[in-house]
Amino acid sequence: MTTIQKAWAQEAWAQTVAKVDKTSKRIGDGFPHASVGGEYKLEPAYWWTAGFWPGLLWLLYRDTKDEGLKQLAESCEQQLDQVVTDYYRLDHDIGFMWTLTSVARYKLTGADDSKRRALLAANLLAARFNVKGSYIRAWNPWREGEDNAGWAIIDCMMNLPLLHWATLTTGDPRFKEIAVRHADMAVEHFIRPDGSVNHIVIFDPATGEKLSVNGGQGFAPESAWSRGTAWAIYGMSLSYKYTGDEKYLHAAKRAAHFFLANLPEDHVPHWDFRLPDGIPAYRDSSAGACAACGLLLIAEQVNGQEASLYREAGERILHSLYTNYGAWDSETEEGLVTHGTSHYPEGKNIDVPLIYGDYYFVEGLSRLLGHGELFW
Ligand code: GLY
Repeated sequence: MTTIQKAWAQEAWAQTVAKVDKTSKRIGDGFPHASVGGEYKLEPAYWWTAGFWPGLLWLLYRDTKDEGLKQLAESCEQQLDQVVTDYYRLDHDIGFMWTLTSVARYKLTGADDSKRRALLAANLLAARFNVKGSYIRAWNPWREGEDNAGWAIIDCMMNLPLLHWATLTTGDPRFKEIAVRHADMAVEHFIRPDGSVNHIVIFDPATGEKLSVNGGQGFAPESAWSRGTAWAIYGMSLSYKYTGDEKYLHAAKRAAHFFLANLPEDHVPHWDFRLPDGIPAYRDSSAGACAACGLLLIAEQVNGQEASLYREAGERILHSLYTNYGAWDSETEEGLVTHGTSHYPEGKNIDVPLIYGDYYFVEGLSRLLGHGELFW
């Protein structure tokens, strides 16, 4: 990074630290998801976003050593114990939840109780693997009569690092084997030839036969949900990091090229890259922040000019989020990064700050500033 680029990232970091110092007084050890009307709504501990706030607090603690933030993150992690006991609400998002709480704390402090929790979570995630279809099952039947035993989703690529971590920590290859088989399935069935991705692929859970695709949080089955593309960029580059298998790097690059080629002028994506006329093209800043982290990780794993290309693309997105989307000086907005879109088809949390947008923005800054290893 040039000195000028470093200067903006340092400035953004200082603003982030100051803002979170304030917001943490209200949010405390709660589980924010979307900031509606300027205030983060808190969700139950079982909600899939439960790891992002404590993960963000750990990113800041690593630099500031602020004991207050550490205690909040630890309290969030302890509250997740009840989610394991309750069991019924657990789904594929175990990876998001325990990577940014227990794995993060274990990596930063070596705490044995966090290692135990993360290993338990990895076992529960591994148990969702469908051996016939080679996919980690998404969700559960949340509503009466719902049958989603055959569903797999692109988001789940971000859950795989928990399995890789478990193999590295225990020496037991089963976790990694499941992660590799799920990632291979995703390369085959999710990443389309043009680099766009499917959100949901449906298999016959008994035979493993692929049945259909579903638009999920994107506009339509054949459209291109931008956050799904971001999950693919980052998830595939993480799979490459853990395995060295070039097919994951190629998949990450393909998704990255599609993502970059479809960005508007300010480098922050619309919520879907293929919207028909008449459908509102809200931005999804969270997709931009997550993709930026994936681009930075690709850059770290390739050389020379190619590395500069991916790194600069990631920096451009983060810089635009900082200058055009940040709520730094707002006393009436708790979110850091505005204009995220959580679930347009269900009309939920549209054009608002999202905690995962904030998390990935802060992770991206932390990478630019060289603060330390990934929690993933
Ligand atoms: N399903 C996780 C997401 O909204 O990206």
